[in-house]
Amino acid sequence: MVETESISITRIEQSRLSKTNLNNLPFGKVFTDHMFMADYRDGQWKNSRIVPYGKIQISPATPALHYGQSIFEGMKAYRAADGKALVFRAADNWKRMNISAERMCMPVVPEDLFMDALSTLIDLDRNWIPTQEGSSLYIRPFMFSADEFIGIRPSLDFTFMILLSPTGPYYSTPVKVKIETHYTRAVEGGTGFAKAGGNYGGAIYPAKLAQDEGYHQLIWTDGKTHEYVEESGTMNLMFVINNTLITPALSDSILAGITRQSVIDLARHWGMQVEERKISIIELVAALKQGRVQEAFGAGTAATIAHIELIGYEDEKFQLPPIESRTFSNRVLNELENIKRGNIQPPFNWISKI
Ligand code: COI
Repeated sequence: MVETESISITRIEQSRLSKTNLNNLPFGKVFTDHMFMADYRDGQWKNSRIVPYGKIQISPATPALHYGQSIFEGMKAYRAADGKALVFRAADNWKRMNISAERMCMPVVPEDLFMDALSTLIDLDRNWIPTQEGSSLYIRPFMFSADEFIGIRPSLDFTFMILLSPTGPYYSTPVKVKIETHYTRAVEGGTGFAKAGGNYGGAIYPAKLAQDEGYHQLIWTDGKTHEYVEESGTMNLMFVINNTLITPALSDSILAGITRQSVIDLARHWGMQVEERKISIIELVAALKQGRVQEAFGAGTAATIAHIELIGYEDEKFQLPPIESRTFSNRVLNELENIKRGNIQPPFNWISKI
């Protein structure tokens, strides 16, 4: 149930904006002046508030800390030439957050609570939206259980928050990825399709082992046989082979990426052949060996379109074609940037103005 109360706003006394350099921003380290919070108590969302960004108080017994009952989203806003903030596919993030919430036994965030919180917070901190090429305002909605109880049961109390982070690109160079056939990110029947904190926490160690070998990320394979490509943890995976866009079909072990869907929507709109299906490692490695992989890239909110320059598999390393030759991924990257910045009208209803 939604409380119809409005959002209370406590403004920061002294904005930090004039002391913040919005050029050459790293990803996810700078936060705006304010943040949104709401509490779920007695079966209702209450106490919607915007407060100065800062530390929060939680019980050390909260199940989010002990059992990882926490979910999140990633979205982006851009500043249009007329000063309006443009948010990309907000309704899709709201829907996905509630899909994650259901799987993690957490309450639904009603659409008006999510959208009001988002637009009020962005309106207040709109001057923080960076304009430098490649930068944007990263939006991080998240929810965690807030019970004071260390037994395992469906929690009763929750906190929903939104942070805003003026940010630069997640990957500043084309990426090198390694096909992972030992460790597992997600399994059938698990939580891989949900944006649950634990999916990411569990992936840090195997990704670090690959980073120690010079890779940026992993190509996760299915947890049962390790024979099929899944996703990359920070992004979905896409390949262009024989001029066809090929991406793993969604399953309960792959996150339904909104950038992934946007790439598919644009490709189909442009008349390109798209295949959402299983991709075996045998098929991918054969295509790499025969030089038939024209393009490979990751698609994600933070990563945007991240060109893959190298794929490692066992003892082999496959170099992919030069970035300049990648007609489709360069076109889709530019089109999405132009849509998100309001330079062109999207063929779909993807932009909300604040
Ligand atoms: C996003 O793309 O928004 C994500 O949540 C990926 C994250 C691991 C940075």
